[in-house]
Amino acid sequence: MDVTYRIEQKRKLNGPFPGPKSQALAERRTKAVAAGVASTLPVYAADVDGGIIVDVDGNQLIDLGSGIAVTTVGASNQAVAKAVAEQAQRFTHTCFMVAPYENYVELAEKLVAITPGDFEKKAVLFNSGAEAVENAIKVARIATGRQAVVAFDHAYHGRTNLTMGLTAKAAPYKRGFGPLAPEIYRMPMSYPFREENPNISGKEAAERAILAMEKQIGGDQIAAIIIEPIQGEGGFIVPAEGFLPRVAEWAKENGIVFISDEVQAGFARSGAWFASDIEGIEPDLVTVAKGIAGGMPLSGVVGRAELLDSVHGGGLGGTYGGNPVAVAAALESIKFMEEQDLAGRAREIEAQFFERFTALQKDVSALGDVRGRGAMIALEFVKAGGIEPDAALTKKIADECLAQGVLILTCGTYGNVVRLLPPLVIGDELLGEAFDVLEAAIRKHA
Ligand SMILES: Cc1ncc(COP(=O)(O)O)c(C=O)c1O
Repeated sequence: MDVTYRIEQKRKLNGPFPGPKSQALAERRTKAVAAGVASTLPVYAADVDGGIIVDVDGNQLIDLGSGIAVTTVGASNQAVAKAVAEQAQRFTHTCFMVAPYENYVELAEKLVAITPGDFEKKAVLFNSGAEAVENAIKVARIATGRQAVVAFDHAYHGRTNLTMGLTAKAAPYKRGFGPLAPEIYRMPMSYPFREENPNISGKEAAERAILAMEKQIGGDQIAAIIIEPIQGEGGFIVPAEGFLPRVAEWAKENGIVFISDEVQAGFARSGAWFASDIEGIEPDLVTVAKGIAGGMPLSGVVGRAELLDSVHGGGLGGTYGGNPVAVAAALESIKFMEEQDLAGRAREIEAQFFERFTALQKDVSALGDVRGRGAMIALEFVKAGGIEPDAALTKKIADECLAQGVLILTCGTYGNVVRLLPPLVIGDELLGEAFDVLEAAIRKHA
C-alpha cells in the first residue's frame, strides 16, 4: 500500500477528554439537534485522515470505525477529494431522471463488472443503503408478481419503514415506530457461536430455514430472500460454510430473487470485492452503499438485467439518486481500491487480528468468539465459561478504549460484540497500537 498522509498518524490526547470546545458544542447540540440521533464519540471531529480523527480540541484518536464501514479509502482521500471538487465545479446536480450524465453510466458499467454473477447485469443508483434495499425489494416483487419477503434473525437492513421491518432488533430500531410493513417473514440464521447444536453444518442450518419457509410461507409465494453475507449490526456473524450456497440454491429452485445485502460487507471490506465472492454465490441482486464512494452518500442495486428491466419506465429513481458528485467520488474510490489492492490490505488486517486475538482468547474466558472476514472483524464477550452475553463488559471495554483515544464500535443483538472496521488505509503501526489498547482494555476488565 502506497499512501501518503496529511495528518501525522499518531494517537494524542491533550488534557481533558472531551475538551472545552467539544463540551461547548455538546451544549449547543442539546438545544438544536433532535435527541433521537445519538453519537458514539463525546468529541466533535475537525479533521480526518488515514487512521486518525482529530477533534476540535486537537486530540487525535485512532479510528477503528470508518464512520460505520464507509471511509474504506480514507475520509479525506486526496484523489476522491479532487474528483469531488472537479465535478462540483462543473455541475453538482441535474437529476439523472431529468438531464442524464455520463459518470452515472460509467459507474453502472463498473458495478456490473465488479459485482458477482456471470450473467447479464444492470445497475441503478440511490442515496442510502436503506433506499437500495427498498428498491431491491420493489424490483423482486414486480419481477415475480409475489409479495412475501424473507429476512433473517439478527438482520439489519435500515431504518425506513420497509427496512425497519426487515431489521430484526426491536430496540432501538423499531420499538414504537409501527405499524411495520406487512409480508415480512423472519427465518433462523446460521450463527455458529450460538447454535444449540454446535455441530450443525451450514447446510443443515440452511435446511432448517428452508423447512420453515416451506411450512410458514410456501416457496411459490416468496418474492425475495434478503440476507447479509456477513451480518453487520446483528453482530458480525459469519454463517457456517455451506449455509448461503444452499439458501441461494433453494431460492433459484423456487423462482425467488436472492438479494445479497452487501451495504456493509461490500467494496473490499471483507477481503474480496464482495463477501458473496468468498461464499461462491451469485446473488440475483446485490445492494451496495457505504464503502462505495469514500464517504459521499451513494448506493445502488446491481444484478440480473431481466429483473431490473422488469420495472416500467419511471418506476425506479429519486431526485438525488446517483448524484454526479457522489458518483465522481465512487469512480475514484473504486480506482483507488483496485490500484492499492485494498482487498489484499483487508486480508492482511484479518491475519493480524486473528493472530493477536485468538492468542488472547486462550487467556480470557470472557472472550467467547473471535470472528469476521477482512477488516470486518469482531470479538463477542460472554459471562466467563459459558455463552451468556455480557453487554456490560463489552461497554466497559469500548469505553476504556475511547478514554485511551481509540474509537471502537459495538454491535450485536445482545450488545456484546466489539466490532472493528478500520479504514483500509490505516498503517500497520497505528493498527498495532490500537490492538494494544484494545487488548489491555480486555485484560483489565474481563
Ligand atoms: C447490511 C446493511 N444494510 C443496510 C443498511 C442501511 O444503510 P443506510 O444506513 O445507508 O441506510 C446498513 C447500515 O448499516 C447495513 O449495514
